[in-house]
Amino acid sequence: MRITIIGSGFLGSALAHHWRQQGHHQITLTTTSPERLGVLETLAHRAVLLQAGDPAALLAALADAEVAIFCQAPTGSRQVDTDAYRATYADPFTTLQGLLPQLPQLGQIVYTGSGSVYGDAAGGWVDEAVAVQPRDGHGQVLWEAEQMLQACRSPRRRVCVLRLGALYGPGRELIPRLSRLAGTTRPGAGQVYCSWLHRDDAVGAISAAVEGGWDETVNVVDDEPCTVADLMERLVTATGLEPVCWQGDQPVTPAMANRRVSNRRLHQLGYCLAHPRIVLPRLVSIDDALLGAVSRRALHSPRRRANHNLHRHEESVQRFLNALQPGTYVRPHRHVRAEPGAGFECFVVLQGSIGLVVLEADGTVIHTQRLDAAGPVRGVELAQEQFHTLVALSSDAVLLELKQGPYQPTADKDFLPQFPQEGSVAAQAQEERWRQLFEPISP
Ligand SMILES: NC(=O)c1ccc[n+]([C@@H]2O[C@H](COP(=O)([O-])OP(=O)(O)OC[C@H]3O[C@@H](n4cnc5c(N)ncnc54)[C@H](OP(=O)(O)O)[C@@H]3O)[C@@H](O)[C@H]2O)c1
Repeated sequence: MRITIIGSGFLGSALAHHWRQQGHHQITLTTTSPERLGVLETLAHRAVLLQAGDPAALLAALADAEVAIFCQAPTGSRQVDTDAYRATYADPFTTLQGLLPQLPQLGQIVYTGSGSVYGDAAGGWVDEAVAVQPRDGHGQVLWEAEQMLQACRSPRRRVCVLRLGALYGPGRELIPRLSRLAGTTRPGAGQVYCSWLHRDDAVGAISAAVEGGWDETVNVVDDEPCTVADLMERLVTATGLEPVCWQGDQPVTPAMANRRVSNRRLHQLGYCLAHPRIVLPRLVSIDDALLGAVSRRALHSPRRRANHNLHRHEESVQRFLNALQPGTYVRPHRHVRAEPGAGFECFVVLQGSIGLVVLEADGTVIHTQRLDAAGPVRGVELAQEQFHTLVALSSDAVLLELKQGPYQPTADKDFLPQFPQEGSVAAQAQEERWRQLFEPISP
């Protein structure tokens, strides 16, 4: 089949890639960006520049197409206004209506719309049969766009509107997107349902719509609408990140649309979801967001440092992030374990700069080492029983530390008693003296 995909973003590109691998269809792919043409030519038989509202360009892109897939969306993360939405969705379909007499071979139009046309249903279920009630200008434009396409239907031309859930998948993974909310305080109770869809199921459903000649509106969402609170809880379980603190007495403004979109029709049509529900991998990304969050906690802590454990206390390998801000005082200590060698400690600086001070039992400094995320020395491993302390040489310095567990607070460290207790004025002066050991020396 000759197929034109209008819009080659996250979904359009994946769809082209899928069909390219199958090798059955002849694909034309469009973009508004000249610099993307080269890459798109590797995914499709033909890549063309197109603003979908431009009649001549749209006619050229669809000239011999038997199927048109409309996958366009306002590009970029910025929030666009209703007019920009109209220019992206509704105007191109007005243009398309005018071109249809010149496109007699066009047998099917598929459009990837959105469940946002349903508006709010107070958490209830919605399906393709309910009357839509867009709750804002954006939803209203999408509804108008759908209606324009419905008017393109004829005995020889099928029209399929797929109302997609929020897309996730490779390149738009959920963990980094949700992690931004971890540890924050948010209004409401998070009891708002949303519908999600893996990119590969969006590709699969479009493919099924074309192979099956679907001629109707179909919700394409996964089997399990979930609330924001539930999703965040799953994130916390999978990653060990901090939970969201919901403030149930604070109203959410503007209120989020709350609905559960039914995919019963999708199942009736025989489509089998590859990702029927969201499964979050059990992993923690040690990314800028996490380093930033631990650093902020350190900044607001009276100790000027904060830990983020990747392990549980009872585990035998302790792995944790330790964020230090200038001024934090680490009383000199060593780690002693019954098993020979098990008191080692390994530090790797992930962000900023740290000063390591190695001492003898009488408090004499025998070695200093600057550890810097940019090198040349990024980390060290200290042997068991080696007394040491650390100072922060930059703001937001973060270490990855590894040592033998399980953690026993009373037996973990053996402090050098001649150095002041943490929190004292003397400790502050001592920390400054150690930090000065690392100041650049003027010629
Ligand atoms: N993302 C979601 O969560 C979600 C949810 C529900 C429905 N959908 C629907 O799924 C479809 C695909 O979304 P996506 O996430 O893949 O979008 P995307 O990654 O933002 O890609 C959008 C594509 O549309 C092109 N485009 C933008 N304005 C255009 C215009 N006026 N004329 C022609 N092409 C234009 C862009 O051109 P450039 O190549 O120049 O950037 C880009 O190729 C859209 O129809 C969207 O409404 C998405």
